[in-house]
Amino acid sequence: MEFAVKSGNPEKQRTACLVLGVYESRRLAPATEQFDAACNGALSNLLRRGDLEGKAGQSLLLFNIADALCERVLLIGCGKERELDERRFRQIASHAATALNETGATEAVVYLTDLAVKSRETDWKIRQIVEAVEAARYRFDALKSRKDTPRRLLRKIILSVPGRRELPGGEQAVREGMAIAAGVKLAKDLGNQPPNFCTPSYLAEQAQALAAEFPSLRVEVLEEADMERLGMGSLLAVSRGSAQPAKLIRLDYRQGLAGRKPLALIGKGVTFDSGGISLKPGEGMDEMKYDMCGAASVLGTLRACAELQLPLNLIGLIPAVENMPGGRATRPGDIVTSLSGQTIEILNTDAEGRLILCDAMTYAERDEPAAVIDIATLTGACIVALGRHPHGLFSNHPPLAHALQAAGQTAGDRVWELPLWEEYQEALDSNFADMANVGGNRDGGAITAACFLSRFAKKFHWAHLDIAGTAWKTGKAKGATGRPVPLLTQYLLDRVAESDRENGREDGRAAH
Ligand code: BES
Ligand code: MN
Ligand code: ZN
Repeated sequence: MEFAVKSGNPEKQRTACLVLGVYESRRLAPATEQFDAACNGALSNLLRRGDLEGKAGQSLLLFNIADALCERVLLIGCGKERELDERRFRQIASHAATALNETGATEAVVYLTDLAVKSRETDWKIRQIVEAVEAARYRFDALKSRKDTPRRLLRKIILSVPGRRELPGGEQAVREGMAIAAGVKLAKDLGNQPPNFCTPSYLAEQAQALAAEFPSLRVEVLEEADMERLGMGSLLAVSRGSAQPAKLIRLDYRQGLAGRKPLALIGKGVTFDSGGISLKPGEGMDEMKYDMCGAASVLGTLRACAELQLPLNLIGLIPAVENMPGGRATRPGDIVTSLSGQTIEILNTDAEGRLILCDAMTYAERDEPAAVIDIATLTGACIVALGRHPHGLFSNHPPLAHALQAAGQTAGDRVWELPLWEEYQEALDSNFADMANVGGNRDGGAITAACFLSRFAKKFHWAHLDIAGTAWKTGKAKGATGRPVPLLTQYLLDRVAESDRENGREDGRAAH
């Protein structure tokens, strides 16, 4: 989709479709009001007939409005004006995107940027609309013989800004929205890909393809022999039962100041989690193809950063394995030595995510990262604790946790922090090794898993995102969500803005 920003009066737009907001009980948004006045009350006359109350989720397509230059007007219900918060705005943007797709218009001028959302400026609204439009167009039908993608005529969306002064900011917001949307799409595509296609080798190839597309990204793939040599006994233990070789994918993005320590993003890349010898029950097991969504979010986020040319130093690390039961598979009771030197008694082969992440975390130490964020579909217990709305957040560094909370709020991709208290650590005591890979019971399972990881995060600031409940939707709308690409990209945008402030620059690009 092509996006542009423009300032100008709605009644002056010679366009195929004008998109205007109407609040509940038929109160017109400012641009709608202005258009209505210019058309001698044509809209309010129509609304009085009762076809649109203005409730959120409603829409009404109108043709042949007397005295108007546009071919159509798409009215979007916005709900009660004083209830219009960030979440509601996103819903409105999403409904508008769906309704707009169903019109025959090839182009539209959208005035929903004039809806007042508390403490959010035009740029924020533009970005939300761009992301919503791209999300509404998403389909994964590459493997269907008959595509269910409907005929789509819409080619271009013009977003209105209040005045000419807002044009540069609006254009930057479009660029950010499009980069995030492309990152989200990449993460969704990788997640939805079936596990017979999306293997560790496939993830490595996708990383290589990304690096070929963006010269600012360099990629390196460590093979099992390399990992053997390094001493990644924990990661390799997970892969033993699979016919697919494990890969450790490393991406480097160095567009910041040479002396600045990098931020490392580590994504769990279990391309299928059968549970291994501790086999999972059959029901819903297909969804364990999504167990690489952490990895997908790292690739999506790096794509967004590269597209935006953010002046940052980043490392992406993806331990990619398939967890299968096989003759050579790791058994419950096996003890392995991790790269850190700590020994682990594997009591449950289904707690495999932590086993691959811990070695990737120790591997990250050699780059002396300023911070490490791991992203993992780690525990079913996280879904029990938080449901499927926020990502679970754990951190050993409160400022990092706060920054992620703020970024999540801005991006509409929120986190909720859970405790990492010392009291929980003893659940991992083992009679035979330095630690067990699971706690003695199911209590606080998301926390126990985070406690396990924390033992490998002693040398850096670290945050862990448990995305088990948020990376994909189950049921009828089954599909990857592309989360937490918006959160992570926002976090990185915030870091860029932060160092711009430190350097005394209000806007413009300093080196970081
Ligand atoms: N990938 C799963 C976690 C998961 C389960 C995510 C369901 C989303 C939906 C992970 O590898 C796993 O199997 N975790 C176990 C840990 C347990 C054995 C301590 C779990 O959550 O049951
Ligand atoms: Mn598992
Ligand atoms: Zn798993």
